This record gives sequence, structure tokens and C-alpha cells, in this order.
Amino acid sequence: MFSELIINRLVSRTFNNINYSPSFRIDNVNCDDLSINVRIPFCRSQCDFCLFRSNPWNPKLAKSYLQAVKEELKIYSNLFEDINVKTVYFSGGTPTLMPEGVAEILKQIEELYEFDGKSAIEANPLDLNDKTLSTLVDSGIESISIGVQSFNDEILAIVGRGHESKIAVNAIKRAKDYGFKHINIDLMFALPEQDLDDIKHDLETAIDLEVSSISTYPLILVPYSEIYDSVKGGLIKLPSIKKERSMYEMIIEFLPDVGYPMSALWRFSKDPEGYCGPFEFKDFVGVGPNAWSVIEKFFSVNTPSLTDYINSLKSGDLPILKGTVFPLRKVMKIWFLRNLYHSKVSKDEFRRKFKGEIKKELKWFLRILFIFGLLKDEEGYLKLTKKGLFYASDATKCIASKLLPGFSLT
Ligand SMILES: C[S@@+](CC[C@H](N)C(=O)[O-])C[C@H]1O[C@@H](n2cnc3c(N)ncnc32)[C@H](O)[C@@H]1O
Ligand code: SF4
Repeated sequence: MFSELIINRLVSRTFNNINYSPSFRIDNVNCDDLSINVRIPFCRSQCDFCLFRSNPWNPKLAKSYLQAVKEELKIYSNLFEDINVKTVYFSGGTPTLMPEGVAEILKQIEELYEFDGKSAIEANPLDLNDKTLSTLVDSGIESISIGVQSFNDEILAIVGRGHESKIAVNAIKRAKDYGFKHINIDLMFALPEQDLDDIKHDLETAIDLEVSSISTYPLILVPYSEIYDSVKGGLIKLPSIKKERSMYEMIIEFLPDVGYPMSALWRFSKDPEGYCGPFEFKDFVGVGPNAWSVIEKFFSVNTPSLTDYINSLKSGDLPILKGTVFPLRKVMKIWFLRNLYHSKVSKDEFRRKFKGEIKKELKWFLRILFIFGLLKDEEGYLKLTKKGLFYASDATKCIASKLLPGFSLT
């Protein structure tokens, strides 16, 4: 318990009290390569559990949105003239609601930037019909991440998912037929009424379907979700923290044994280079409402309001709500924590990036993690121990629930 308090404190000290500057600007960016995360802020309906708030699908609004995205990309292309774009990631909301728009955006990125051509998209299984899949493949999208959440129909109904598991199974099979290089699926654990057998069944179904990687997210309960009210009102019950840990333990022990080694805390992959999530790129610019950018020392977040976003770009202004330039020590800490999401941090990489020794620069921070047995020093890496993985999973939930509501509309 004491160590949990300490970890919570470390996270809060790093991510609370960010001093946003009213005159924030991004300039003199000097990174080797950059990724672009384009957020598509529409959903058919809001799922009860969801961390990401979106707008109801509206084709007319989507047209104005597309223009605004193109404008934002144009402004950034002038700021990042000599920088190579490594990956383009379309994140949700639900990008597969507007496949033609996605294709147009990708084409514009190819025209405006030096682009390596790697791209990925998040997909809702309900959208993966032949027309959408062929539009995505023809536009050059290589990887697809399908939101399955669970293969158990009762659980899908409890969390208000809006489709049965057979829709997801068929979507995965169809995506395979269309030849995507990498197919990831999102599963969730610690959902209401879920137990260890349900998780095992979900993992076995995913393995039978031979997907390239499996993301397993613990439910992050946020106050603006429908599920939050039902849990607080005693209508549904979440698994205990102890049960959630047993679920995670089962996942991290089972998947590597069947050919899916851990590539990040919550992802297990046969092909770790083939796909990574939207916030995992080293430096990335976020495009769209409520999108964040992390580019070296610069951190900023766009306005969450779709209307403000569109209006701002109509006037030729970047839609940044707030931003800050972190001092070097904070850049180091955040770099370390973000890398720790992959369960280990290379001491050499730190040395190359910051021209210093990680154990000297982050002395007290690391000492606490060593004292509590969360970190070990092995073969040039600082690696999370098994106990460390549990705490890192809790800490990541804590970071997401601290950052995301802070940027939401109300
Ligand atoms: C932005 S969503 C995009 C997926 C796509 N819109 C869909 O519905 O299939 C990405 C993933 O975040 C995960 N997610 C959403 N809300 C979450 C929450 N409250 N806690 C943990 N993971 C969550 C889900 O697994 C979801 O598939
Ligand atoms: S899970 Fe996907 S479809 Fe459901 S609300 Fe979240 S982003 Fe929208």
C-alpha cells in the first residue's frame, strides 16, 4: 500500500501542475523523425466505457472537419520543413466512419511531407465492409487495429458496445482477406462481471484467429462515462483490484508462451515493429480536437471542441488550447516514463539523447523504483520487474485518467 502511494505521488508530481504558457508556440523543432496522429472525432454512438469523447457521426460536419484537418496539416508542414514523417496513425473516435476522408488526408500528407509510407488505422468492426476495406487498402494503409473489447456477448451488452462478437470475428477475417500487413485487436479486461475464464477465452479466440498482435487494456474508469454512474450507483460491479491483478498476471504469463511476446505493457505481438499505438511514437504531432502533441520539449493539446477547432483553422490559426515547453529534467522524466511503457529503457539511448547517465540524472526517481523492487538493471537496460509491471499498469491507468478528463469538454 505504501509503495502504491509513493508511485501515485511520483505520477502526480510529473503530470499534475503542468505550467501551461498562454504564449505557447512550437518553433525550432529539431527531431530526427516525427509521427502524425490524426484524430477522427466521430462515433456512431458513445460506448458506455469509453475514455475518448466523440461527436455523433454527421457527414456534413465531417466535410468541414476534413477541410480543417488539411489546413492544420498545412500549417505544421511549414513548421517541420526538413523533418521526415515516419508513421501516420488515424485514431479514434472512429476513423473507419470516413474511409474516403482518411484516403484524402493520407494523400495530402504524401504531398506536403517527406513521408516513409507507414500508416495505421483504428477500426470499429461494424464498419469493416468490403467498400471500406478496399478504400483503406487502396489508399496505402498498412496496419489496422480492430476494437473487439471482448468475445463474450453478455459482457459486450453490459458495456454498451453495440454489436455482438461475431461481427468482430467476421471483421478480423475480412481484414485478413484484404492483406493488411499487421492486424492488431483491442481487448479489455477488468470489465464488469468479467472473470478469469472470460479473459482466457478472449485470448484463445484471438490466437485462433491468428492476429498479429493483441492489445489488452484494463478498464480505465472516467467520471464522464456511462459505466462510471452505473458502478457508483451500485448497478454493476467491477472486479476487485486483486482480481484485476490476477487477470493481468494471467495475460502476461499466457501470451508470451503461445508466441506473443510482450512488446508494451498492454500489447503482445508477433511483429513488434509492425504496429504501435498512437501515443507511443517518440515524437508525434496530434491533429484534430483534443489531440496532443509531444515533440521533444514541447507538449500541447488542441481544443476539445469540434466547432472551435474548425473555426480556428478557418481563421488560419493552430487550434492549440494549451501548451508548455518542459524544462530538461521533466523532459528526461517523461521520456523515461514513456519508454517504460515498453517495459524497459535503454541506458545507451538515454546517453545518446541527453548526453548524460540516466542513473545520475534521474537519481532519486530511479532510487525509489529500485528500493520498492519495481526496477532492475540488466544487460544495458532498466527493466520493470514482475512487481514493477503491475505498478506500471496502475500508473499508466492513473496517467490516462488524469490527463484525458483534464482535456475534455466539461
Ligand atoms: C479510440 S478507441 C478506437 C476504437 C474504435 N473506435 C472502436 O470502437 O472499435 C481505442 C481503444 O481504446 C480502448 N478503450 C476505450 N475506452 C477505454 C477505457 N475506458 N479503458 C481502457 N481502454 C479503453 C478500447 O479497447 C478501444 O478499442
Ligand atoms: S470505443 Fe470506439 S466507437 Fe466506442 S465510443 Fe470509444 S471511440 Fe467511439
